[in-house]
Amino acid sequence: MKKTNNNQYGKNARKPRVGRSGARMNAANDRSQKNAGKPRPVRENKPVKASRSRQQSAAASSEHTQVIQWYPGHMTKTRRRIEKDLKLVDAVAEIIDARIPVSSRNPDIAGLTAGKPRIVLLNKCDMADPRATAKWVSYLSRENVRAIPVDCKSGRGVDRFVPALKELLSSRIERYQAKGMVNPTMRVMIVGIPNVGKSTFINRIAKKVKAVSADRPGVTRGNQWFTVAKGFEMLDTPGVLWPKFDDQTVGEHLAFTGAIKSEVMDTELLAVRLLELLRELKTPEFIERYKLSEEDLSLPGYEILSKIARNRGMLIAGGEADAERAAYTLLDEFRAAKLGRITLEEP
Ligand code: G4P
Repeated sequence: MKKTNNNQYGKNARKPRVGRSGARMNAANDRSQKNAGKPRPVRENKPVKASRSRQQSAAASSEHTQVIQWYPGHMTKTRRRIEKDLKLVDAVAEIIDARIPVSSRNPDIAGLTAGKPRIVLLNKCDMADPRATAKWVSYLSRENVRAIPVDCKSGRGVDRFVPALKELLSSRIERYQAKGMVNPTMRVMIVGIPNVGKSTFINRIAKKVKAVSADRPGVTRGNQWFTVAKGFEMLDTPGVLWPKFDDQTVGEHLAFTGAIKSEVMDTELLAVRLLELLRELKTPEFIERYKLSEEDLSLPGYEILSKIARNRGMLIAGGEADAERAAYTLLDEFRAAKLGRITLEEP
């Protein structure tokens, strides 16, 4: 029998690369590899201790990555709620971060939605590389899926949502009409991992909270629906999913973009990892902002961080570079897109 590749991106879809080089980074240690896919609950905000001095561990980061321990609780409960709510809707709008379309995506979503028509909103596209976003749009679009780049903060692209939904659901609407429903109401649910912009999107698109309606079997009391357009409603609470845990690169990319709080990891080590990507990308904004020469870019990551600290006048007693402050600054400025419009993952 012919084996098909039926992954989260669709039947026979090629899996996208995580990281520019396409190489998956090493798991931090054997334990994390052994326990891959088996998230253990840990206290949030638990700092990850570096086993060696900061400088040593950061300098050696090409070989070792820190284990980012960030496991939200209530996973089973949340999943069950989403599964229940999915029965009430005709389509799903999945919001992802256009800078990290792989890492900001829950790998179970295709299975969970069980072939329901889907709109993938590539949000925060104002901060992503427009060329990469265009590639992602064509990569993700397929018969039952529409991909739209949006910037929910300014509202750009959001007006494409309803027309896409209408087009995606046109045959379903026709089916309902053939069954005798004159004006069937189509319902959509928003899903996404934390921080991708679900609330921002809902606030932009929701017209008003509609009283509970039950014009179709299965649409039960207890749920509130927003009107998004005539004949289209959206569940008022988004389905909060969780990112993939067992891939260190995913954890890092979520941390770079701020989806995982910096307090749960070693900031300098994280900044060094980010620098390893930025020095490959060499965006003019990055080079000019930190006044880095070609020679600087060939230095080990931790030394580039020290260079940035010096160039920015971030010094500690004795005139030493304040690498910690530089690390926070680098991450803040990356998250604010001051280092250019950057996409970390390519299709
Ligand atoms: P969530 O419900 O999925 O958890 O995400 P939420 O809407 O709370 O958005 C998370 C952060 O992302 C917010 O920033 C929000 O303003 C920002 N954001 C959402 N969409 C976009 C977008 O398209 N472009 C940009 N640049 N940012 C976006 P915050 O700093 O946490 O809050 P705030 O200070 O902006 O209120």
